[in-house]
Amino acid sequence: MKLRGNTLVIGLQWGDEAKGKITDILSEQADVVVRFLGGSNAGHTVVTGGQTFKLHLIPSGIIHPNVLCVIAGGVVLDPEIFELELNDLVAGHIKFDGRLKISQTAHVVFPYHKLEDQLKENSLGDGKIGTTARGIGPCYTDKATRTQAIRVCDLFHLEQLDAKVRDIVNYKNRLFLALYNSPGVNADEMVRKAHRYGEILRPFVCDTTELLQDAMAADKRLVFEGAQGTLLDVDHGTFPYVTSSNASACGVSAGSGVPAKAIRTFLGVAKAYTTRVGTGPCPTEQINAAGDRIRERGHEYGTTTGRPRRCGWFDAFATRYSVRLGGIDKVALMLLDVLSGFDKLLICTGYRYRGQMLRSFPTDGEVMKEVEPVYEEHPGWAEEIDQVKSFDQLPANAQSYVRRLEQLIEAPVAIVSVGPDRAQTLMREETI
Ligand code: IMP
Repeated sequence: MKLRGNTLVIGLQWGDEAKGKITDILSEQADVVVRFLGGSNAGHTVVTGGQTFKLHLIPSGIIHPNVLCVIAGGVVLDPEIFELELNDLVAGHIKFDGRLKISQTAHVVFPYHKLEDQLKENSLGDGKIGTTARGIGPCYTDKATRTQAIRVCDLFHLEQLDAKVRDIVNYKNRLFLALYNSPGVNADEMVRKAHRYGEILRPFVCDTTELLQDAMAADKRLVFEGAQGTLLDVDHGTFPYVTSSNASACGVSAGSGVPAKAIRTFLGVAKAYTTRVGTGPCPTEQINAAGDRIRERGHEYGTTTGRPRRCGWFDAFATRYSVRLGGIDKVALMLLDVLSGFDKLLICTGYRYRGQMLRSFPTDGEVMKEVEPVYEEHPGWAEEIDQVKSFDQLPANAQSYVRRLEQLIEAPVAIVSVGPDRAQTLMREETI
């Protein structure tokens, strides 16, 4: 498999589309892999040589010995999680010296962000978003508010840092007490942590925007590793049940500092069915034996939180929206093997709202809550397909299922995945 040029890997559903596996495969051809949004709310599982790595922050390209991995400025970085991941890599004998870079402009997640995330969610009752409690929303809130934010570069200005941390903690603690009757966090401890964070991150910090621009000027091949998914995008997703950053293809340029026109291929990743974690609408969810079967066969439990994922039929209406929004050139269709053994499969082709078929995907949360999915039926296949080596060897109904999805989402399926291992990947096109 060859890369045509710089490539973006982006989720087309509500996250968890197995993007880590695709990034890992593309990384074999890449010089640089870039993470550009989100934080440790993401969970990318990479299986290689019998070892499994669960990465939340560090790009999955790190598994490949010659790939430079960049955590760009759009990421909100939790140094404690980062340190745990470094330790896992050391334990797994992965050498990363000089190959891992962090943007000085990334925002730092502190324990008070995580506390705020939890306190706020707990206070919301039925209106919960069901966040990952990793402090993502509060950290991006501080970024937008500006006066309470700490970026990676701030960790190295020690005199200003102490006062800044104390000011922030003082403000937050008053808020925590007033709103949630919580004592908050200890200011001395936060100052100590801030110093420690600087020590952890220092060897990796640089101007990653310049680094990426230099890499492009030197004709290096870049892979951009999306996190979460298009339908969780704060501007274009199923608001308010979204994450706090631009998780669609629209986010790549702002998050990485690389012009969108430098990206040759926009590769969308979708599962052959639908999953969602947290609350919020998921029209094709099946709270029945079909949903349970998908969950068990697909091991649909969160990488980050362990929560059971909500499972249902493929939503072609939602996925086509993501394809159009992101200018997606090609699609990787994941976990097709999970669907073996169903007599029939349903595919959602549109939404009905108050008796009318909708022409476009609803971005109004109140409309989205009420929509009813409209399905077409597709015959299933009995055979297990996890050992199949090429698309032509798939059962005829599996092939026609993929072809039907292509028509409905209006994008070609270039890659079909039938299992977690790299070897279980059917390439329909040699060049991506
Ligand atoms: P947050 O990003 O932790 O604030 O969570 C906001 C919403 O996005 C919740 O519904 C989460 O379950 C969801 N979410 C965040 N990150 C991921 C992910 O990597 N995969 C799937 N869902 C996610």
